[in-house]
This record gives sequence, structure tokens and C-alpha cells, in this order.
Amino acid sequence: MAANREDFEAMPQAACPMSVGEVDLFAPGAQEHWYDSYKLLQAEEPVLRLPGQGYEPGSDAYVLTKYEDIRKVVRDPDLFPTRQGPGSSGTSKIHDEIFEDEGFGDVVTARDRLRPDIETHKLHRETLTEPWVGASGALQHRDMITAHANRLVDNWIDKGEVEFVTEFAAPLPQAVISTILGFPLEDMPMTKKWEEAQVRRFVYGFGPKSQMEDPDEEDNAKALVAFNRYIQEQIDEKRRNPKDDMITFLTEVEYQGEPLADGDIISVVSGMHIGGNETTQYALTSEAMLLAEHPEIVEELRADRSKVRFFVEEALRLYAPTQGLSGRMVARDTEIRGVKIPAGSLLHLRWAAANRDPELCEAPDEIRLDRKSPGKHLTFSIRPRGCPGAGLSRLEQNIAVNVMLDRIDELKLARGKNDFKHQPGIMLGLYELHLAFTKVREAVPVG
Ligand code: HEM
Repeated sequence: MAANREDFEAMPQAACPMSVGEVDLFAPGAQEHWYDSYKLLQAEEPVLRLPGQGYEPGSDAYVLTKYEDIRKVVRDPDLFPTRQGPGSSGTSKIHDEIFEDEGFGDVVTARDRLRPDIETHKLHRETLTEPWVGASGALQHRDMITAHANRLVDNWIDKGEVEFVTEFAAPLPQAVISTILGFPLEDMPMTKKWEEAQVRRFVYGFGPKSQMEDPDEEDNAKALVAFNRYIQEQIDEKRRNPKDDMITFLTEVEYQGEPLADGDIISVVSGMHIGGNETTQYALTSEAMLLAEHPEIVEELRADRSKVRFFVEEALRLYAPTQGLSGRMVARDTEIRGVKIPAGSLLHLRWAAANRDPELCEAPDEIRLDRKSPGKHLTFSIRPRGCPGAGLSRLEQNIAVNVMLDRIDELKLARGKNDFKHQPGIMLGLYELHLAFTKVREAVPVG
């Protein structure tokens, strides 16, 4: 079985579950029914045991869907730490062996070396990533992001129709993160392929561990070795010719009193590249879909642009791009909602379900721009870990929505062209979104 769309669509597709016993969040086709599944799970089995699906042989995985449970887990890194050791960075044994053989073993171990505990995790974020992609660090990129967004819109604004994913939602975050890192923009066709390899197991992997078949894993690891060689070349180039970009910064910065080794830099750059691309693509796509479906919201946003940030938070809450992650382990025997969970179990946290938990907010399936705490969703998870790139992503989304409001009028879903199919895996990504629109009439200067 190959890890691609055709093979997945050729498999029997899951139907919408009618009872909790029929829920399988990881089956091919299940992604079209996730939100129905979450309702069943929250009502009847908010702590769902998946026997034998933990990391260690004989251990189990548990899927959590309630807001309070997931929040408590993330807030307690002693009882619920992230996974350490081989495979802890979302890789596989085959991947790690190929990296070792190809001279990139130190990239695989960088996470455990640089951030063995929550204190160093904090230091890593504050020293290495926040100045570039954190909430205030990202602000320096405002003009650059706006220019990329407008350049992309220029390509199709006169056509009246666009396939939004390939023409805007995917290339915008890619151009932004490439510029921040300092990758030459002409390399984007190549880095796009590597980025697809980075997320492949989260899209075409199976079960809560996102496992791929061995031959796919091998091919993918080889593609990622090529990406690491490319990053290494970029590091060498920045050492020779320093520029004002994140890779140059990483070659100069001190972390715990020492400069970073090249393997450490590659690991940070890879993290920015995987995080900085697809997730924001999915968010931008959902936002465009919501705008096309809700002309009354477009009107409200046009009348008061300060509401754009509320719109972005609601879109993030309703359509969390990263629906769930198998991101925490259980350090000691514990209990959640009366379910006994042994030490060594794996927890799969469904952020997207938590975001629509009726205990989080009133009418959780509705978009409302006047919620009291619009950012109180778990789409980026929360501290002490949480997503280090949330600031950059939020800024990109706010700018993109404003550019769309500035330039696009009468936005609609293009008739007869959308099947609204999502890719499988653990992320909510529409393959395509066809939009029809008119161009905002530019003001003609008087006199
Ligand atoms: C809508 C966009 C995004 C979403 C939904 C998202 C979501 C997440 C989530 C849920 C996590 C896991 C946190 C945890 O385990 O507690 C995460 C981690 C991460 N994100 Fe994001 N993210 C987004 C954008 C970005 C961007 C733009 C970047 C970088 C520029 C980024 C970089 C990362 C990295 C490096 C990690 C791993 C942190 C670690 O190892 O602890 N993400 N993200």
C-alpha cells in the first residue's frame, strides 16, 4: 500500500457512525464524519480505550475528547510528559536508522538533547523560536506577509474564479516560512515536496501512532535525508554570507552558553518548516470557506475590521487544522473520568473535539463573533508546551482575511466544482476549494 490519495480513496470508506461502537477516528473516510464522532464520544465514551495501540508492546492508547480533560493533561507535564527517546519526534525506527546511516543521527536526538524537560523547553522557545515566530517576534514580518498575500491575489484577481488551496492557502505560508528561514524562494517547488514528506505520516499514516508501511517509511525517510542535506547547505551558505534571516540567527545564537551544532539547527529549521506550512494552509482554507458561506459575516467584518481577529479565532476553534495528536504519555497509573489508565499508556488528544465541547461555550457549532473569550480554544494546545508558531500563524491569517476583504467582493463557492473532500490522517485539510468572486472596485482618484 502506498501513502497517497488514490490508494486511500480506493479503500472502503467509513460511514457516519450511528453509535459510539462504530466510531473509528482513524479509518479511511472517517475524516468526513469526525464532528459527528466527537459528539458520540463526548456523550458516551469521553475516554476511549484503544487496546494494544500504545507505543510499547501490549500497551494501550486512550483518546480524550473533553475540553477539561485535555486541558488538565497538557497543564500537568509531570504526570503526562511527552514521549522521550527513539521515535519521540514523531518519527519511526526505520526513519531513525536511515538518518543515522546518512550522518543525521544527531538531528533525531536533538529534541531530547536540547529540551529534555519543561524548563529547557521554555528556554528553547524563548531563545530560539519566539524572536522569529512568537506573538511579538512575528510582527516584524507584517509587511512581508502582506506583500506575499497581495502578490498571490494579483495572479488570479481578474479571473473571477480561483482554486484557493493551490493558488493562495498553500503558497502563502510556504512563501512566509521560506522567507523567515532564508530559503531562496525559487527553491519552493523543491521544498514543497520535502514538506509533503514531512507531513506524510500524519496524513497517510494509520492509527493513533500515524504508522506507515515499511517501504513508504523508507522512501519518505530518504526524501527527508535530502531535505536535511539542503538545510545543511543553507547553514553553510549563511555561515559564509550572513543574512537577516532565522537560519543566520541560529548559526550565531548561544543556547545554554554554547553555539548550536549543525544537527541542532537542522532540527529547529525542520520544526519551523513542518509547523509553518500545512496547518496554516488548512486554517486559511477554512476561513475562505466560511467567508464564502456567510455573506452576513463578510458584511460585519467590512463594517468593523477589528472583528477580523474574532473571526480568525472562531474559524480556528470550529475547524482546528490539527484535529488531534498522540502527544502525551502517562507517567504513573492514573484515572480520568473514572477510567483507570496504566503508566506507559499513550494519550491521543483531540483538540478539535474539545473546541466544540458544549462545556466550553454556548452553541459550540456556531460561528459567533461576540464570544467573551474567543481565543480559549485548544487549536494550538496551551502552555507550558503549546505551539511555538501560533503568533506567526495568527498574524498570517489576520493579514490574509484583511487582504481578501480589501480585494475580493461577492465571494461564493464556485457552483458544481466543490466536493469538499478532506485528506485522511489527523489534520483537517480540504484538498480543493473552488471560489467565485468579483473584484473590489478600486477607488478612482478625484480630480
Ligand atoms: C494554524 C496553524 C497551526 C496549528 C493549528 C498548530 C498546532 C500545533 C499543536 C496542536 C502543537 C502541539 C502542541 C502540544 O503538544 O502541546 C504544535 C506544535 C508545534 N508547532 Fe504548531 N501549529 C500551527 C502553526 C505553526 C507554525 C506557523 C509553526 C512555526 C513557524 C509551528 C511550529 C510548531 C512546532 C515546532 C511544534 C512542536 C513543538 C514541540 O516540539 O513541543 N506551528 N502546533
